[in-house]
Amino acid sequence: MATRTTASTRSAAVSTAQALVAPGKGILAADESTPTIAKRLAAIGVESTEPVRRAYRELLFMTPGLAEHVSGVILYDETIRQRAADGTPFPELLASAGLIPGIKVDAGTAPLAGFPDELATEGLDGLRRRFAEYVELGARFAKWRAVIAIGEGRPTRTCLETNAHLLARYAALAQEAGLTPIVEPEVLMDGPHPIERCAEVTVAALRAVYDQLAEHRVHLEGTLLKPNMVLPGSECPDQVDDETIAARTVTVMREAVPVAVPGIVLLSGGQGDAQATARLDAINRHGTQPWQLSFSYGRALQGPVLRAWAGEEHNREAAQAALLHRAALNGAARYGSYLPGMEED
Ligand code: 13P
Repeated sequence: MATRTTASTRSAAVSTAQALVAPGKGILAADESTPTIAKRLAAIGVESTEPVRRAYRELLFMTPGLAEHVSGVILYDETIRQRAADGTPFPELLASAGLIPGIKVDAGTAPLAGFPDELATEGLDGLRRRFAEYVELGARFAKWRAVIAIGEGRPTRTCLETNAHLLARYAALAQEAGLTPIVEPEVLMDGPHPIERCAEVTVAALRAVYDQLAEHRVHLEGTLLKPNMVLPGSECPDQVDDETIAARTVTVMREAVPVAVPGIVLLSGGQGDAQATARLDAINRHGTQPWQLSFSYGRALQGPVLRAWAGEEHNREAAQAALLHRAALNGAARYGSYLPGMEED
């Protein structure tokens, strides 16, 4: 088991980071935990059993042509150990289709003691050993999500610093194992706050993260950032247009994200499918930036797939077509060349 970061583990992290943000491509987040995927399946009237989860993930991963628009796929612990119907382990199936396998390694959130309504992410205990196993299983990158809520007096400095510290510890361990850490501090869009408040909190969260990554000697060129877009709260009466969101998001990233970071892979966070695409497109039309601006979408890529599939084997091709279509539209948004009319193609 690796217990120190070397030139070779660093360079593996750097080359994977670059491959994940290759032009025109983004990441498919298919790393829902067992309780979360159960919710997504319940929404289409399907009971979540191990064979159903396996079949659904196989459908996603075997979508013909997916690698044209998707660089890598984030898996969950159960999924990285599963196999396709023909016995091929999922990580091998993905790699042979030209998709880089990744793994979510956090263990979800728990209340931050002493700070009501704030969360800290768990999962550091035993992580070095788990990384060694995930490398054996074929993972080349990893993800850890911190959750930051906006509210009265929240987030506190303690919440931001605690989560940033946890992200940095995780990122250092990932690079030691030769994996690219995706660093995800998600500022939630829940609440009535205006876009200015989201901008202020996102800058503070990102600054805390980059301070800690530096403290922990994380090599930024071998990382990716997965942030929220800068948006008004979902219950804010003052909603804004996509151009405003793009301008705010780019400004915040320029304030807080070092240029050594090769790419920013935005999360969808509950935005509509087409909305997440249109906003990524607006962000990429906003001028040249020092990093690649890409996507790492879960719900915004899988929503239409789940609806088309509905748990029925005979809908498999239609569901794969829905995934390919959504991925292609987001691929176009990487170049700022998405047009709403493409939704109907
Ligand atoms: P969403 O795009 O559904 O927000 O999911 C991305 C993700 O991986 C959150 O951790």
